[in-house]
Amino acid sequence: MNKQVNTTVVRISEGNPNPPEMAGLGEIIKKGGLVAFPTETVYGLGGDALNPESSKKIYAAKGRPSDNPLIVHIADLNDLPKLVVSVPERAKKLADAFWPGPLTMILNKSDLVPTETTGGLSTVAVRFPSHKVAQELIKASGGYIAAPSANLSGKPSPTLAKYVLEDMDGRVDAIIDGGDIPIGLESTIVDLTGEKPMILRPGYITKEMLESVLGEVLTDPTILDASCKERPKAPGMRYRHYAPKGELTIVEGPADAVIETINREVLISAGERKKTGVIASDENVPYYSADVVKCIGNRNNPEEVAASLYRILREMDDENVEAIFSESFSEEGLGEAIMNRLLKAAGHRKITV
Ligand code: TXA
Ligand code: MG
Repeated sequence: MNKQVNTTVVRISEGNPNPPEMAGLGEIIKKGGLVAFPTETVYGLGGDALNPESSKKIYAAKGRPSDNPLIVHIADLNDLPKLVVSVPERAKKLADAFWPGPLTMILNKSDLVPTETTGGLSTVAVRFPSHKVAQELIKASGGYIAAPSANLSGKPSPTLAKYVLEDMDGRVDAIIDGGDIPIGLESTIVDLTGEKPMILRPGYITKEMLESVLGEVLTDPTILDASCKERPKAPGMRYRHYAPKGELTIVEGPADAVIETINREVLISAGERKKTGVIASDENVPYYSADVVKCIGNRNNPEEVAASLYRILREMDDENVEAIFSESFSEEGLGEAIMNRLLKAAGHRKITV
């Protein structure tokens, strides 16, 4: 796709989320245009969720298959019943506990939602983000914004506006630069249309947090197990995703063995004249020798690791690293989402020592 439109970048921070420019940005969406904006999870690529033409534009801008449904973002709880056939008790409880916030619920859609937005499905994904700039944009544009992550399909989701611009320049009418993104991984998706609630994509709202409100919650078996033969229930989880250009390999095991193995693998790749990179927790950074060593944060602080992950994958691309090796992280709590994204980015290439 060649450059189609002139992309304007507007800086709006959460400290002053509704400056005079916001009304004009809302107008762009109301008229069928696209505006990328910050949320607490990752940057989103927004269009009018109730306008089929806007949804088609989103798919084209991202280069995304049109059978991969979009999340509808709202900024007022009273708008939820309009999007769905009915609001089950479980959804009310979750909204009460976690909205506004990084949780997406799958429910049976009403006729208001065009099938272009839901990738042909009879269900709809709904999220009420907590980011103040996102909320103001949703309100200014009529209440319902369809937004996937604002990356080209297959690339890591953007957590900085410069990466939105890199992917979306000429493809969207405007980009709101809201600065750093607090969480850094996409929302947890929970499907409430089945007999039991099921996590389709792990995120900041963990299984334990959902279970504290709902009781038993299932997890789509394909999330961490690459050998699982079933199809993931969230269509987007089927595609190669979150991937850097370089070949990423995860190394798991006791710290000393991981360091030794990564350093050995780096030497082998360097011998093949590849530019090498390592993703290390801060305590291990000094022990690696590679062309590029990136610190992802303290391994005992998964929030830090989550917030750095996509930026580091992008930086590896910026520096043209060809062979990337990453330490592995605990799958407890938020760690499940971190390892889900890291393993997907690696195409499930993993060395266990
Ligand atoms: O944090 C987030 O959720 C971000 C920000 C921008 O809000 N958005 C996001 O959207 O990650 P996207 O399009 O990159 O991922 C949406 C995921 C896809 O895997 C899609 O297949 C799944 O949600 N999804 C959407 N509607 C669905 C539905 N009705 N049933 C099952 N999965 C659905
Ligand atoms: Mg995405």
